[in-house]
Amino acid sequence: MRLRGKKGVRELLEQQPQLVVLEPEQHKGKWQQYFGNDRPIYVELGMGKGQFVSQMSLNYPDVNFIGIDMYDELIHRATEKVQEKREGQVGRSNIALVRANVEFLEKVFADGEIERIFLNFSDPWPKKRHARRRLSHSHFLDKYQQVLNDKGELHMKTDSETLFESSLNSFAEYGLQMRNISLNLHRDGVNEEHVMTEYEQKFHSRGMNIHRVEVLFGAETIRQYRAAKQS
Ligand SMILES: C[S@@+](CC[C@H](N)C(=O)[O-])C[C@H]1O[C@@H](n2cnc3c(N)ncnc32)[C@H](O)[C@@H]1O
Repeated sequence: MRLRGKKGVRELLEQQPQLVVLEPEQHKGKWQQYFGNDRPIYVELGMGKGQFVSQMSLNYPDVNFIGIDMYDELIHRATEKVQEKREGQVGRSNIALVRANVEFLEKVFADGEIERIFLNFSDPWPKKRHARRRLSHSHFLDKYQQVLNDKGELHMKTDSETLFESSLNSFAEYGLQMRNISLNLHRDGVNEEHVMTEYEQKFHSRGMNIHRVEVLFGAETIRQYRAAKQS
């Protein structure tokens, strides 16, 4: 993603503590306290300009959403998106925009603290020597397994055939159960059930197929999935 430097962005972020968290390690193990309730926490890793996470927080008011990115400028763009969607009503609500590097996810969340992870159009890192940087590499799956709870799931969308292929292999080799694998999510027209991200809109409008998979991490989710299959 191309970034334009913007003077004073950090100051703008610091002025919005009700929405932006710049030192998320301080909330590790205390995110329910941060939101003031015990609702499940869903996290988008690499939210970009925040279209997906901000719309999801409106569609699902009974869930707390956290959008993570590592760039101030993108977090700033996401604050604008949240404000636009909430028409300026941005007190403490069910969304937080967090500056963090996924590499240090276990410093941000305690074991079992979150229920769902979204990986939307993650950087594909197509070269073999960069495979470890893909957010679906086993190196990251270890972290996800740690921070997801009993009902934990990971939902992934991408336009990249190579990333999708390597991700499915990575999930399978890790022994994870997958479901609802789609090679063309919007085959029959835009599937409204799935909120579109910025990248998704761009690629879909160019006629590219969107790939999607749901991955089950939590013991309870896996138990329910298997029970439903047997009945
Ligand atoms: C290709 S963009 C996708 C943005 C958005 N999810 C979408 O679908 O429109 C990938 C995003 O992931 C972020 N990102 C990549 N690696 C990251 C990491 N290790 N930690 C946090 N954010 C990361 C980038 O800054 C970028 O905003």
